[in-house]
Amino acid sequence: MLELQRLAKRAFNQEPSKSPYTFCNITKTIEQAERIALIGASGQGKSTLLRTISLLNMPDEGEMSFDGVAFREVGPRNWRKQICYVAQQAVMLPGSVEANLTISSKLHGRSFDLKLAERLLQTAGLSGLDLKKNARDLSGGEMQRIALIRALLLRPKVLLLDEITASLDTVNTKAVEQLLAQWHADEGTTMLWVTHELEQVTRTCERVWFMSGNTIMEDSLATAFFTRPSTDAGRTFIGHHVSEEVQP
Ligand SMILES: Nc1ncnc2c1ncn2[C@@H]1O[C@H](COP(=O)(O)OP(=O)(O)OP(=O)(O)O)[C@@H](O)[C@H]1O
Ligand SMILES: [Mg+2]
Repeated sequence: MLELQRLAKRAFNQEPSKSPYTFCNITKTIEQAERIALIGASGQGKSTLLRTISLLNMPDEGEMSFDGVAFREVGPRNWRKQICYVAQQAVMLPGSVEANLTISSKLHGRSFDLKLAERLLQTAGLSGLDLKKNARDLSGGEMQRIALIRALLLRPKVLLLDEITASLDTVNTKAVEQLLAQWHADEGTTMLWVTHELEQVTRTCERVWFMSGNTIMEDSLATAFFTRPSTDAGRTFIGHHVSEEVQP
């Protein structure tokens, strides 16, 4: 169970007319195996919130604990063994695809599960990929899937997924969604998933956090949010998306 208490991150530029926070006052409990979609307009702080939860950025205020242990007691390195962020812009380490896949097991002192890696590559539509290839020569969509598989091989308890299908075509987007659905069924991993594809939310997550006004404005079942948002900001957000999708 992940607990966030009054979590806040101050904004870089403290303009008097604007909120001093990128996000603030986030108090939430996420139970094991929950799948939550984090949605909201561009620039609301979704990526910053995920990066803060994974301690790639330190929170400026508030507390976080995982299974009852506060983040300050654990330290970022051990925290990130359990709570893993998969970035919006996939970062490949120097070297081959294989080196990128084996690195996390080396760092965490675990043996590399080749069978699992091959199964994940196949399910993600990457079975033909030459593992000796330089990882930085991959396409954006290939990098995103390798970064996801690299994270899964760590078997984290919580996955923080940041627009991980943004560079993928429909077929591969569906392949990644299925891979994660199966992973969730097998491992019971908790997922907090940022996406701008609202149809993806209903396919993949049961719960929605809608970010607006520098905080989580709505927290509801996905079906409830999409049929009847409870705030004006939520209604406007959905209205924009519906009208965009209806336009030719
Ligand atoms: N470490 C940080 N501390 C405070 N603010 C930050 C930090 N990193 C980024 N920001 C600010 O947070 C704001 C929101 O950026 P963020 O990338 O989190 O938005 P987002 O909701 O993920 O947007 P998008 O949907 O376009 O990806 C930006 O104005 C950015 O400058
Ligand atoms: Mg983002």
